[in-house]
Amino acid sequence: MFTAIQRSWRIHPLPISILRLWLGVTWIYAGWHKATDPGFLTKGANGYIGSQLARIPKSSPLNFALNKLVENADLMGLVAMISEFAIGLATLSGFMLVYAALGGLIMSLTLWLTLSWTVSPYFLGSNSAYVIMWAVLLGSIFRKSGRLRLPNFSDRREVLTLALLGGLSIIGVIAGKNFKRGPKKLLSAGSSNAIAKVSDIAIGTSINIVDTFGAPAIIFRTKSGVYAYSAVCTHQGCTVEFDKNSKHLICPCHGAEYDPANSAKVLAGPTTTPLPKVEILVKGDEIFLV
Ligand code: FES
Repeated sequence: MFTAIQRSWRIHPLPISILRLWLGVTWIYAGWHKATDPGFLTKGANGYIGSQLARIPKSSPLNFALNKLVENADLMGLVAMISEFAIGLATLSGFMLVYAALGGLIMSLTLWLTLSWTVSPYFLGSNSAYVIMWAVLLGSIFRKSGRLRLPNFSDRREVLTLALLGGLSIIGVIAGKNFKRGPKKLLSAGSSNAIAKVSDIAIGTSINIVDTFGAPAIIFRTKSGVYAYSAVCTHQGCTVEFDKNSKHLICPCHGAEYDPANSAKVLAGPTTTPLPKVEILVKGDEIFLV
């Protein structure tokens, strides 16, 4: 197997080998980064895959699939992590390289057409550059081999190599889950730091904060005081946003609407559960998490 890996690195000119190395390492790191992120598969946490998917702009050409993606967010997250490990490992080992390049191209193109769709100018989003990089690698492989070759399932060595790649990808995800990065610096209970000033929040408006568990929350100010609520929708965990016109908290996923001036009661949508309160303490002009 090691001879095959060595041979695969000799067939491309140096610039393509450098590109291949960069893409392979980056894709493995991307899988590892997600696997070690404690919030990636945790509803309501910062960086939750469902909240990321819910932020796909309406103008995205793939917006028609948004609801299905959000409903299956956890599965999508798991598939993304395993695929990134598998694509990275295949790119570095040279086994099924053409499929790895095709997978990397499809992934980058999907990210470009969704999460990076509104990045302007386009070159500020890295996904557009990765589309081109994978396309160049794919083109170079085609020039060498001229065809797509499916794995030969009657060849025991190829089946074992394929199983090894899949197994290593799953082990990568499991290992990442056990090496979770620590939570991002949060304002913890009892923190002496004020999270906001009352005078900075105009009456009838809100600000976004992160609660003591790292989940998104909202502070809303009325004439009678300030109130804090979790920003995690009680339907399926997307992050609600304050709508300046209606002065309601609205979930971008399935349209749940909450009234922040009235204990975050449900005004519309598929849920009947109000947003939970977040405990805060107001001392003079300063607001603290409790
Ligand atoms: S997640 Fe469905 S309405 Fe918010």
